[in-house]
Amino acid sequence: MESNFDVIVIGSGPGGYVCAIRSAQLGLKTACVELSNTLGGVCLNRGCIPSKSLLNSSELYHKAQKEFNNLGIETTNIKLNLSKMMNNKKKTVQTLTKGIEFLFKKNKITHLKGRGSIASSNTVTVTDDSKKKTSYKTKNIVIATGSEPTSLPGIKIDEKIIVSSTGALSFEKVPKELIVIGGGYIGLELSSVWKRLGSNVMVIEFLDHIIPGMDKDISDAFLKILNKQGINFRLDSKVTRINVVKNKAVVDFINNKNAKRERIECNKVLIAVGRKSNISDNISKLGVKLDNQKKIKVNNKFETSIKNIYAIGDVIDKGPMLAHKAEDEGIAVAEIIAGQAGHVNYDAIPAVIYTSPEVAMVGKTEEQLKKENVKYRVGKFPFLANSRAKVNNETEGFVKIIADEKTDKVLGVSMISAVAGTMIAELALAMEFGASSEDIARTCHAHPTHSEAVKEAAMAIDKRPIHF
Ligand code: NAI
Repeated sequence: MESNFDVIVIGSGPGGYVCAIRSAQLGLKTACVELSNTLGGVCLNRGCIPSKSLLNSSELYHKAQKEFNNLGIETTNIKLNLSKMMNNKKKTVQTLTKGIEFLFKKNKITHLKGRGSIASSNTVTVTDDSKKKTSYKTKNIVIATGSEPTSLPGIKIDEKIIVSSTGALSFEKVPKELIVIGGGYIGLELSSVWKRLGSNVMVIEFLDHIIPGMDKDISDAFLKILNKQGINFRLDSKVTRINVVKNKAVVDFINNKNAKRERIECNKVLIAVGRKSNISDNISKLGVKLDNQKKIKVNNKFETSIKNIYAIGDVIDKGPMLAHKAEDEGIAVAEIIAGQAGHVNYDAIPAVIYTSPEVAMVGKTEEQLKKENVKYRVGKFPFLANSRAKVNNETEGFVKIIADEKTDKVLGVSMISAVAGTMIAELALAMEFGASSEDIARTCHAHPTHSEAVKEAAMAIDKRPIHF
């Protein structure tokens, strides 16, 4: 045994690294095991951060091409340099992963390099690149091993022609045709990137609507917006086969309703049909209990079925697979291990799709509330009537607030807006504090800002918006 720790965290994604930092802040002797060469997990290395870099660059490219002229900014000969755009993405990722290394040093966290496996409830074995195994004793173990993309039955992701998000974040050339399977977060963000950079994009979605889990009003309006941007959709469609022939993919799919079959050839196919938790055989062998989706069962203290082994983030049976949810669980579990009262409120976790415009929600959707037989009132306000959105030519979208009919407590908010991802924080905070829609309506919002639409949507619940 090399060393004794209070906490060993397995995995350094947003759940794991945040948990390690909070544990160290609380005076616990902490180590974090990571098998990749860089810290930060999927989010920093091949997820949230690189995708946002490409979303930002491609949006600027698109605006420079299509919108600047209307504003009196005359540009000629705008050219895409994809490798430079990719290099910028790489640099951002490097800076941020190095930032975590710095934070580990600052907080005196031991960074164990290699694949971590749990030998017993107080021993973690780390196997490094040269296959050398070292065991470490610890009082507590936190599993934060995240998730990886799933594929469809019989379809193998080769990361060349049939790619996951990892491949689609690093194409060397803009694909002429891109087919995206899955109209969820990843599918729509990456469709936007490649459409802006010049691809013909078609999204094939199994359900009859996109972004399942979001409010139906939002999903319908967002589909129209994306259609207008030139992204094609085949809804209610099931992919039956993908063949790779001479560097091209041939995608066969069938309409679920009328059984019409289609075959489309394309240069690249992105599979974005969800992610599955990274659960090693070793965890199952140890007797850590899983649910029927192969996620680790945890109680409200993030304890697994084995004492002193905790789990957080994408591997657990609670909450959405989102980086910020994992971060909050990382903080909560560290505090629980240190004897404090760590807690995550799953009713107020925001979700954001970083397209243009952005889509964001927090709390319940109207469909969920109907199912639960909750009586509610709805207030909506369109950005067409918001002065700042008008000034910026960002009038697409609206804010929808749902409040309890009797108590007026805010139950859920959904919105489409250029800055929805930033604005949703106000609503998450409001829900944390148990605010009523009246509280929001009576809060002074700066003028002219997009946020005024939030205040107006709250006023609309009481049928008294000013500008609409
Ligand atoms: P997702 O669950 O968001 O969407 C998957 C989509 O694929 C759904 O619309 C589903 O109906 C569809 N689908 C499933 N099987 C299909 C089939 N056989 N044929 C056609 N469509 C099919 O999953 P996604 O986009 O892969 O993202 C994975 C996870 O990563 C999500 O849990 C998401 O929360 C997270 N993520 C979050 C982001 C953000 O916060 N902005 C960005 C990217 C990912």
